[in-house]
Amino acid sequence: MTTRILSGVRPTGNIHLGNYLGAIQNWVSMSHNIDEHLFCIVDQHALTTAEDASDLYNHTRLIAAAYVACGIDPDKSYIFAQSHVPGHTELAWYFNCITPLGWLNRMTQFKDKAGKNKEHANLGLYAYPVLMAADILLYKATHVPVGEDQKQHVELARDIAHAFNNFVKCDVFTLPEPVIPEQNARIMSLRDGTKKMSKSDISDYSRIHLLDDEDTLAIKIRKAKTDMDPIPDSKEGLVDRPEAKNLIGIYAAVSNQTVDAICTTFEGQTFSALKATLTDALIEHLRPIREKLTLLLDDKSELDRILARGADRANELAAISLNEVRSSLNLYPRPKGQ
Ligand code: TRP
Repeated sequence: MTTRILSGVRPTGNIHLGNYLGAIQNWVSMSHNIDEHLFCIVDQHALTTAEDASDLYNHTRLIAAAYVACGIDPDKSYIFAQSHVPGHTELAWYFNCITPLGWLNRMTQFKDKAGKNKEHANLGLYAYPVLMAADILLYKATHVPVGEDQKQHVELARDIAHAFNNFVKCDVFTLPEPVIPEQNARIMSLRDGTKKMSKSDISDYSRIHLLDDEDTLAIKIRKAKTDMDPIPDSKEGLVDRPEAKNLIGIYAAVSNQTVDAICTTFEGQTFSALKATLTDALIEHLRPIREKLTLLLDDKSELDRILARGADRANELAAISLNEVRSSLNLYPRPKGQ
């Protein structure tokens, strides 16, 4: 059986260190052992939370360029925009017709995002997990790397695959596996170590953008919240110290060391010593990424080429699945050539 990774980022804003270290870097390392890799910019999902659509084009370019700048090889993996493959929304419709409302009512992310104002939440936000199931199942993805917060959605995709197979009495879909990075790889807010680093946090000091210049990086690390205790001698000493754990975790990731090795080096010192070293390491690590990102954002024809190559392959795979799906649903066969 072909193994296939599928994952995606919503183009809703800037791209930050959490997207890179917590997600994209992990996709790249997983890709080595998997046959085919598809990385989507899920622009149709972005519309579920957009106040208006004016930034969607620029945000989509930014995520596509960031995928490449963060290490995805566009000649070995496929990078594409969700809206370039109409099969996502077609498959989502078929899934809408077999997904009980009760399953969607359980989705914690909808409850969080819709808040108290459920009457005003849009239908797209509510149906979003069904479209996400379509993103995954359209390609018969076997591995879906996502953050802990998306695990429930991948499990829903498994339930939908199962329900669809039962409905058509045929095993059209295989069940995808969520791949969740280890707890340590989670990059948290620089202002509150118990919250994930996020595009939607109101404070810009809570996150590091991949396009931040070196002075901004230095200020953000200097202002990052810490506690008063010295650095412990091993990672066990970081339990219940979320901000300390986060900063050491970021340093470990960008300097390719273990958390324990860093604790041994800095044992007994204050965070200001570690912050200075971390700032230098972060600046060095992010410099080539920022440079590549800036170059690509200026090279429209290269980005267009990458997205066209990705969309071609994605549409090819989508056509195979949709033919199977339509015939399993007994839809009247399409006229030739359509
Ligand atoms: N829901 C994911 C997020 O908010 C993004 C996403 C959409 C996704 N479709 C996907 C992730 C398919 C993995 C697979 O982060």
